[in-house]
Amino acid sequence: MLKIGIILGSTREGRLSPQVGQWVKEIAEKRRDAEYEIIDIAEFKLPLLGEPGGDASGATAWSQMVAACDGFVFIVQEYNHSISGALKNALDYLRQEWNNKAAGIVSYGSVGGARAAEHLRGILGELLVADVRVHPALSLFTDFENGTVFKPKEVQADSVNQMLDQVIPWANALKTIR
Ligand SMILES: Cc1cc2nc3c(=O)[nH]c(=O)nc-3n(C[C@H](O)[C@H](O)[C@H](O)COP(=O)(O)O)c2cc1C
Repeated sequence: MLKIGIILGSTREGRLSPQVGQWVKEIAEKRRDAEYEIIDIAEFKLPLLGEPGGDASGATAWSQMVAACDGFVFIVQEYNHSISGALKNALDYLRQEWNNKAAGIVSYGSVGGARAAEHLRGILGELLVADVRVHPALSLFTDFENGTVFKPKEVQADSVNQMLDQVIPWANALKTIR
């Protein structure tokens, strides 16, 4: 069975990513085509990469967690037209663990997090992660109540399934070359 990690890209107090990640997981688990697990980068408490004196004890667990996955769904939020520093740092920590795996992106922001998602695609290319075309983009104005309570429009669930329809075959295909 394929293992797909649903990676929460934000770590700040009061973040919205757990609500979005849980929603993706519930949609995904109905498909019964993979094992889906939420991966919360906040739990690994990664210091900035290479920072002297930082406690990097979570780095081994982070490496093992990503290595165990065949593919990913990145829950991406827009911070200053890009991804969060926490997600960039977590991506930078590893190399081979990402290589030759598939990914989908679910983003949110004032314009659906589109600019952050496009930045992430460039980074994933460098890490040999094959990201798919379908990209559910959630609006802070119409998919969240008061910008805080996640109430996605119904059509967004279809978009998540269409994204996974592309991630799963690519995750299977890439397994053969690892
Ligand atoms: C530092 C910072 C910068 C942000 N910049 C943008 C931005 O450029 N575009 C945008 O649409 N939203 C921006 N936002 C709004 C966030 O997308 C929104 O707060 C979102 O909920 C953040 O994700 P999180 O709740 O999971 O941390 C920014 C928020 C923060 C905290």
